[in-house]
Amino acid sequence: MAQSKLVKGLTHSRVWRSLFRHGWPDNPLDRSLTMTSNIFFHLHPVKVSRKSLRWQYSFGLGVVATILYGVLIFTGVLLMFYYVPSVERAYPSMKEIQLSVPLGQFTRNMHRWAAHGMVLVVILHMVRVFYTGAYKPPRQFNWVIGVILLLFTLGASFTGYLLPWDQLSFWAITVGTNIASYAPGAGPVMREILLGGTEVGQDTLIRFYTLHIALLPLSLALVVSLHLWRVRKDGGLAATEVPDGEG
Ligand code: HEM
Repeated sequence: MAQSKLVKGLTHSRVWRSLFRHGWPDNPLDRSLTMTSNIFFHLHPVKVSRKSLRWQYSFGLGVVATILYGVLIFTGVLLMFYYVPSVERAYPSMKEIQLSVPLGQFTRNMHRWAAHGMVLVVILHMVRVFYTGAYKPPRQFNWVIGVILLLFTLGASFTGYLLPWDQLSFWAITVGTNIASYAPGAGPVMREILLGGTEVGQDTLIRFYTLHIALLPLSLALVVSLHLWRVRKDGGLAATEVPDGEG
């Protein structure tokens, strides 16, 4: 009784009302308002199934992919302060980052490991979605958005591979773009568009750089936002409620 008086006093105070605009969440209406009026909570539906909240259901793989994307943007912007996308300066600038820039080696390693991690996590996330049948209606549109995200993630990885401009990068992109040229019909044209000519050179480096630092990250940001908005609009994760002890 004393506690409810205290709660009542608190939730009726002007400070509480100006901050939260709803009462203490001990009834269905105030619980809904708690979710819809909070910038972080409103990303979730008002009601979610208990099963979908268990970490073993999704392993949080989509969230981990989103966090890795954030790490890649942060470390990538730091690397851009020193990296120069020219055939004469790309390799020396990478060496400078590794050897003389404070925390340069650490930043470069974080960027590389986060990139490998993101490819792995996105594939595992896709396997999880498939395994739990979450690609079925009404989520089929989000599955298609997911496939686009997978292609963008692989594209960001591929374009980043050329940037150190060492032997490994050079030959990997030579082989990769040769493979692309075997695609029926558009293959040879695709190779030429990617390379900006007939072989890997300065024109290729600047194309890959632009794709890697601008076009793909921005497209990813846009499509990830659409993906998360769709998860929200589809009513949260696909898990259906099962009686206790069976799920
Ligand atoms: C950049 C890559 C991606 C990011 C950042 C991402 C992010 C997310 C997040 C945060 C969720 C919410 C729940 C969770 O953590 O599992 C989710 C759900 C979902 N994702 Fe992704 N995702 C990506 C790629 C993909 C791919 C490759 C597919 C499939 C081709 C996919 C299909 C789906 C579907 C269908 C859901 C709803 C799952 C459910 O209702 O249980 N996503 N995604």
